[in-house]
Amino acid sequence: MKNKKKIVCLTAYSKPIANILDQYCDVILVGDSVATAFYGMKSTKKISISTMINHAVSVKKSIRKSLLVFDMPNNTYRNIKNAKENIKKINKQVKCDAFKIESNGRNYKIIKELVKSGIKVMGHIGYTPQFKKNFKIHGIKINEEKKLLKDAKLIEQSGAFSIVLECVAKKVAEKITKSIKIPTIGIGSSNECDGQILVTDDLIGLSGFNPKFVKKYINIKHKISKAVRKFKIEVENKKFPKKANWY
Ligand code: KIV
Repeated sequence: MKNKKKIVCLTAYSKPIANILDQYCDVILVGDSVATAFYGMKSTKKISISTMINHAVSVKKSIRKSLLVFDMPNNTYRNIKNAKENIKKINKQVKCDAFKIESNGRNYKIIKELVKSGIKVMGHIGYTPQFKKNFKIHGIKINEEKKLLKDAKLIEQSGAFSIVLECVAKKVAEKITKSIKIPTIGIGSSNECDGQILVTDDLIGLSGFNPKFVKKYINIKHKISKAVRKFKIEVENKKFPKKANWY
């Protein structure tokens, strides 16, 4: 799809949301952001592989045409053996099309070996929450720019089919996108990327996470709140249920 059509990607953690997304998305990611957006954890570092598998099983039920990508959680790809064992475990319960691995600037060999054994890998550079303590924009300083470009090329050479660029400065996102043949998927990394990804719960205004790179397309929290308030009033005033709602 590179240079032909922008790639549309979103996260999903459940069957009903995936059912809507599958109509519009090229890629659906079962992201480890489920930790913060769904379970209210402080970071994505503690989510377990079994919890992620449960969400992927639910999401998979709605996938008809999108590419299903499983986001490998923290500590599940420490070395080649560990990564292969965990992917085998995931695929046994839910067959996924590809696996996303955050870059720590060293794990190219793991990508290479996974690809060699027929596993499709999506890379992830820039802000990589599993390996970083604090949020920051990447690629502002010249040494960061060089490192990001090198990382992207090494990930491409390792055989990954695409790379997520998270919070990478526009100028650098553009350079990376132009210098590699595989598509870049941006989040907070400008419109120079080959595709875009957001956490769906942020885009619909459910998570309450409002950084600059998230555009809220709907305030679903407000809409749910209005509906629930109406339900409360109707129950309290004996307006619900009505004859049409009982047996
Ligand atoms: O976990 C996630 O949702 C992600 C995306 C933000 C790329 O990694």
